[in-house]
Amino acid sequence: MTTLSIEVRRADPQDAREIAALHRKVWISSYAGLIPHRPLVHMIERRREDWWRRATRGPSTLLVLDVAGKIAGYATIGANRIKALKQEGEIYELYLLPEYQGIGLGSYFFRECRAILRALNMTGLVVWCLEDNENAITFYRAMGGMDVAEGMEEFDGRSLKKLGFVWRS
Ligand SMILES: CC(C)(COP(=O)(O)OP(=O)(O)OC[C@H]1O[C@@H](n2cnc3c(N)ncnc32)[C@H](O)[C@@H]1OP(=O)(O)O)[C@@H](O)C(=O)NCCC(=O)NCCS
Repeated sequence: MTTLSIEVRRADPQDAREIAALHRKVWISSYAGLIPHRPLVHMIERRREDWWRRATRGPSTLLVLDVAGKIAGYATIGANRIKALKQEGEIYELYLLPEYQGIGLGSYFFRECRAILRALNMTGLVVWCLEDNENAITFYRAMGGMDVAEGMEEFDGRSLKKLGFVWRS
């Protein structure tokens, strides 16, 4: 039997190229047809390898899900940005390559992110998610999140609603 190593670790500068390719692939598969083409391409293009190399130094914590030496997903975590919500921590982004979705790795990665935030005394958690991103909405509900807040995100003149999920401490 083959043993598969799965670990969540902080991203290294050497991971930047792989994360940039992953980011491009997963953002296209998640948002094409949902976010208008031009702003989506712009958001992807501005995060090239150099951008991700700098991101390994902060300000948020950049984590990767490493499956047998391959980066299957990334997450960024840190302090909650919306002071109207009293939860201390936030997962800003959590993305898995399409071929690694739907087999339990997202829930494992989510729990690890929470554990890292808890270790930093951030027990409550916030996650924002576009309302039309149905897979992610279903996922965060399945993880026990409650959508208690709403906001709008502007993309080239098109407004998309986002939902704020919270987990209490
Ligand atoms: C959202 C995401 C992180 C979920 O990770 P995942 O590994 O696919 O999810 P899991 O396999 O751990 O599923 C956990 C639970 O979430 C729910 N779920 C996840 N994906 C689902 C889908 N496509 N449809 C319905 N339910 C889904 C299920 O309840 C599932 O539990 P079950 O398998 O016991 O039924 C991942 O699919 C992803 O990266 N998607 C694209 C990027 C994205 O939208 N990120 C979030 C931005 S806010």
